[in-house]
Amino acid sequence: MVDSVKIQSDVYPVLIGLMGCGKSSIGKLLSKELGLKLIDLDHYIVEKAGKTIPEIFAEQGEEGFRDLESEALAEVIGKPVVLSTGGGAVMRAENRALLEAHAPVIWLKSSLEFLANRIQGDNNRPLIAGRDALTTLQQLAEVRYPYYTQCADYILHRGKMNKAASLKAVLEYLRSWQYEHSDELTASDK
Ligand code: S3P
Repeated sequence: MVDSVKIQSDVYPVLIGLMGCGKSSIGKLLSKELGLKLIDLDHYIVEKAGKTIPEIFAEQGEEGFRDLESEALAEVIGKPVVLSTGGGAVMRAENRALLEAHAPVIWLKSSLEFLANRIQGDNNRPLIAGRDALTTLQQLAEVRYPYYTQCADYILHRGKMNKAASLKAVLEYLRSWQYEHSDELTASDK
C-alpha cells in the first residue's frame, strides 16, 4: 500500500499490549497523524475516579480497578478517537467481547526483557511495585498473550523498531485495513 494513501477519518484504532509496550506514546503519534483525539484509558479512569492508579489499587484492590476499567472501556470504545488501553484491559471477558467486536485492534508486542527494562521501578504501576518486573511480566504474558491474540486484528512485532518505525508500520497496516474494509466504511458513511 502506498505511503501517501490518506487514512479516512472513520478509522478508530485501539492499541493493546503489556505495560511499557508504547501504547500511550505511539497512540499519541498516531492520533496526531490521523487527526483524532487520543483517549488513554488509564488517564480516563484516573480523571473519572479523581484518584491515581496506585490509590485505586490500594483502596479498592485490583478487582475494583478492573470494574472501573470495564466501565471506562464500555464508555469510550467506538468513539472517534485513537484508544490506548491499559495492559490488563483484556482480562475480563466482557472487555474482550467489546474489543473483538471493534476493529482495528492493534497489539504492540515487544520482548519481555525490553519491557521489563522500561518499567522496572515505576511506582505508578502497582502490579510491578516492589517486584521483579521480568518475572511479573512473564506471569502476565502467560495469561494475557492468548487474550491479546484473540482481540487483535494486527500484531506489530516491534523488535528493535523505534517509535517512528512503529508508527510507520501501524499506518501501513491501517491503510491495508481500510482498503479491505472500504465497502463497510463507505456504507457506514451513508
Ligand atoms: C495494568 C497496566 C497499566 C494500568 C494498571 C494495570 C496491567 O497500564 O492499567 O497499572 O494490568 O497490566 P499500562 O499498560 O498503560 O501500563
